[in-house]
Amino acid sequence: MKEKALNEKIKTKWAGRNLECHQTIGSTNDRAKELAAGKDAHGTLVIADSQTNGRGRRGKSWISEQGGNVYMSIIVKPQIPPECASMLTLVASLAVLTGIEETTGITMQIKWPNDIVANGCKVCGILTEMSGDTDFIHYVVIGMGINVNINNFDKEIQHKATSLSCLAGKRIDRGYVVASIMKHFEKYYEEFIRYKNLTPFLDEYNRKLVNRNCAVRVLAVGKEYTGMALGITAFGELIVQAKTGEIKYVLSGEVSVRGIYGYT
Ligand code: BTN
Repeated sequence: MKEKALNEKIKTKWAGRNLECHQTIGSTNDRAKELAAGKDAHGTLVIADSQTNGRGRRGKSWISEQGGNVYMSIIVKPQIPPECASMLTLVASLAVLTGIEETTGITMQIKWPNDIVANGCKVCGILTEMSGDTDFIHYVVIGMGINVNINNFDKEIQHKATSLSCLAGKRIDRGYVVASIMKHFEKYYEEFIRYKNLTPFLDEYNRKLVNRNCAVRVLAVGKEYTGMALGITAFGELIVQAKTGEIKYVLSGEVSVRGIYGYT
């Protein structure tokens, strides 16, 4: 993506105003971490046309070929307790969802905690990484991989992935999508920092939650159980009613949803 053209589209106060565009890079998250030590790093956005070492959650790789997709990472330095940092993934997912809907008109949903989906297929994944002490955050890097103009997926993922161009039936201008996501990210982030929780957009998030009122399988560390997802709390936990009737609050972990990505 051309830096100058993207710069002109981004109309925020701070989110994405500092911009670093690469044709190819190892991982935008890794580059953002290098930049994060800088004193003016808050809001800096690193974006690439392709990645040679794109990373997903839980050590998986993120296929990052050239082809008009978005691979980007934003640096933030929130003054919040480290245990609140995971909520930033949910803040970012609302921003990505709203930015995509605004620029394409396509309805999106959120698969808690970090995927944006449409018609049950993944459009975007978010990888949030933090550096800090037990009581102080140095920085958080939020990486977003968005399938924008890719039309062919590898066999292993073709049944569970889609792209904006596949959904829209035409090529999508990445610049407008990125600029809109930055606009919404800035707005949601500032609200979040004010409240230090998700109260101001709890209803909005729950409306968009694909897991809501669905059977889910929670793959918690050391145990696995099924239940019904009821929504999220103001602290970003997924509320699950287990088969036993017990209400559980899932802070993070793998959750598979019936009908989404093939959980049967
Ligand atoms: C996931 O769904 O597992 C998260 C995928 C996150 C991928 C993005 S692409 C930009 C940024 N750089 C990376 O190496 N990963 C994230």
